[in-house]
Amino acid sequence: MIKKLESYNIVFIGFMGVGKTTISSHIAKLLNKELIETDVYIAEKANMDIPSIFDKFGENYFRDLESEAVAEISKKRGVIISCGGGAVIREKNVLELKESGIIIKLTATPNTVLQRVKGSKERPILNGHMNTEFIASLMEKRDNFYSNAADITISTDGKTVDEVAKECIEKSILFIESK
Ligand code: S3P
Repeated sequence: MIKKLESYNIVFIGFMGVGKTTISSHIAKLLNKELIETDVYIAEKANMDIPSIFDKFGENYFRDLESEAVAEISKKRGVIISCGGGAVIREKNVLELKESGIIIKLTATPNTVLQRVKGSKERPILNGHMNTEFIASLMEKRDNFYSNAADITISTDGKTVDEVAKECIEKSILFIESK
């Protein structure tokens, strides 16, 4: 049955700190697939890390690079794609990702997100806003984008990486069968 997944990409979306990187890399190992993270792709292409891109050129420029990355990565098949938390804000990106495979929205509560991201300075959007109130309010503003793009939604709260990864694979297979 896993063979059925071969011709699809599995695409992870969701808010910062929901576990996209961790889960997608675990699944890539389980399924022996290539993992492509939009942020890594962007940083390599720009030869600059994400905070420096925001710092030097601003968010809009980053979003343009992100759209370019999504357009290029979506052309691939049979890979695991982990998207930055804002990648589904632009409708064009969503259409390209949807065309390329199954979209899994990962979720976590604002408090879980805070616990996961508070030690990191890698997320310019959260700089100076490392608190549950800001996270909860941005999450609420973003939620429609995630929900409209998603084929499957999976909560990560209180689950192990392996549990979430297996749930992703099982639900992806069911989703493909139902099509
Ligand atoms: C962003 C999320 C980040 C990264 C950038 C902007 C966002 O990725 O793309 O800092 O707007 O939500 P992660 O979701 O992997 O942290």
